[in-house]
Parts: sequence; C-alpha cells; structure tokens
Amino acid sequence: MAVLGASGRTGRLVVAAIAADPALSLAAAVVGGASSHLGLDAGALCGVGVLGVPLTAVGPGCFGEAEVVIDFSLPHALASALPHLGARGLVSGTTGSSTPLLEQLEAHSLRAPVLCAANFSLGIELLKDLLARAVVALPSADIEVIEAHHRHKRDAPSGTALALAEVAARARGLDPQRALVHGRRGAVGPRPTDQIGLHALRGGDVTGAHTVWLLADGERIALSHEASDRSTFARGAVRAARWLLDRAPGRYLLADVLAPEPRTTSRGGSGGV
Ligand SMILES: NC(=O)c1ccc[n+]([C@@H]2O[C@H](COP(=O)([O-])OP(=O)(O)OC[C@H]3O[C@@H](n4cnc5c(N)ncnc54)[C@H](OP(=O)(O)O)[C@@H]3O)[C@@H](O)[C@H]2O)c1
Repeated sequence: MAVLGASGRTGRLVVAAIAADPALSLAAAVVGGASSHLGLDAGALCGVGVLGVPLTAVGPGCFGEAEVVIDFSLPHALASALPHLGARGLVSGTTGSSTPLLEQLEAHSLRAPVLCAANFSLGIELLKDLLARAVVALPSADIEVIEAHHRHKRDAPSGTALALAEVAARARGLDPQRALVHGRRGAVGPRPTDQIGLHALRGGDVTGAHTVWLLADGERIALSHEASDRSTFARGAVRAARWLLDRAPGRYLLADVLAPEPRTTSRGGSGGV
C-alpha cells in the first residue's frame, strides 16, 4: 500500500492502520514537494515505530512497489499525483474535488479500480440507507442537512453532507443539481417543497457531525451521525484498499465493499460516486 497525504491528520492514521495489519506493508508514503516532513520515516512520524519508508514528494516513481494508493490529501495534490499512479488501484477520501479532477479520476478508472468515498465510516453508510427510507416514508417533510467540522477543514459543505443530500434528493425524485440550496440569507421567501438545504458549521476539533432533519407538519425527525475518532475513516479506507486488490478496472462504492457480492456494471464497478 502507498499513502498519499501520509503526514496529514488522516494519512498518519492510515499509515498506522497499515502497519497494524500483518497482511499489508507500506510501500510508499507521499507528501507535497514543499513538505517539512520530507525524508522523515513514515512509521516514526505516525507513532508506530520506524518502518524504513521515508516520506517522499509526488513525482515519477513515488509510489514504488505499491499495488494500491490510499489518498487523504487535497484536490490539487491528488490531481498532481494521478499521472504517477500507473495502473495502481486508488482509494480516495479527499473531498472538494473539482469537475476536472473528477474527469481525471474517471480516466484512471479505465485502467485501474477506483473507489472514492466522502466518508469511510460504516455508520454513514447505514445513515444513507435509513435516510432513503425515511424520505420515502415522509413524502411531505422538508429536508435540511446540517454538518459540523473542525476549524481546519478547507471545503464546505462537507463531501458527506453533499452525499447525504444527494441520497435524499434521489429518494424524493429530485435533481440534486437543482434541489440543493447552500445556506439562506436575506428575503428568501417561503420555502419551496422541492428544496434541500445544506448548512456548514466550522470550529474547534469536531471530527465530523452530520444531521439530516425531516421537518413535517406537527412532527420532526433528526437522523444524526457523529464521528468521535478519525481512525474510523482510516480503518474503513484500509479495508476498502484490501478489497480493491482483486478488482477489475472501474468505479466502486464503499457499499460494494460492505455488500456480500460486488454490484457490477459493464466495467466491473458499481457506476460512479
Ligand atoms: N473520506 C473520509 O472518510 C475523510 C475523512 C477525513 C478527511 N477526509 C478528507 O481527506 C482530506 C485530508 O484531510 P486531513 O484532515 O487529513 O488533511 P491534512 O491534515 O491537511 O493533510 C493533508 C495532507 O496532504 C498533503 N499534501 C499537501 N499538499 C500536497 C501536495 N501538493 N502533494 C501531495 N501531498 C500534499 C499534506 O502533506 P504536507 O503538508 O506534508 O505536504 C498532508 O499529508 C480532506 O479532503 C478531508 O476532507 C475524508
């Protein structure tokens, strides 16, 4: 396995999760060219003892003998690393991707298996299922998504909030591109029924909290998930990377990893994230 963003808050925990798994070994730990961590031993940096793998910069050959790359970095970092991936599989948790980066990921999936997820916790997968059922069961309820994250998070709303809103939109038969409204301000007028509101709180050390409100006349339901430990994302990503080792090129979902059998499309994957 290789880790892109190995010096980051999440990347360090991925390195630790790989080191803790006797079936896996860390082939490369990659960071930016201007990183203050270049040359440091990845295991020592991540608190799991020396692994003999120094942190290197994105560039030709940076992923060494790795079969799969696990990415928790930044959209521009992933974009610069993708040309050096060759036919290696990719598990990416990076959020805030632009359309050109999504196109790059699609191109990579023609030659390797690719699994992107805005949230690698199992609880969020369950929340998506519960949400889809609740939206169908309460067809007249207004839907609002609120998320909170630590003060260092760079994108808003979170990729997870967007994914939850998209699940709700599809369950309601709405086009996510048109239904999502980001915050409200000024004379917004009465709330249209075909809207899904998204709201982002930032501050402190919140690992990640998401609540979807279903607001009906006379009653309200709030479906909530809170991550209390970032290592849940790291463990989920490593589990996905192990699963990806045997897969054909294509796009896969975290739900495929959790399902007894992968749902297949013409290119082997479940068809986009
Ligand atoms: N899907 C999930 O479950 C999940 C969970 C948590 C976080 N995330 C997402 O994962 C991403 C990382 O989050 P984080 O909190 O771990 O971020 P972070 O602590 O800021 O770490 C960012 C990492 O990217 C590296 N980096 C920066 N510029 C780079 C470049 N040009 N080339 C290569 N590497 C570069 C940094 O290394 P240097 O600064 O040393 O170069 C660092 O290792 C974010 O998009 C976040 O939203 C997703």
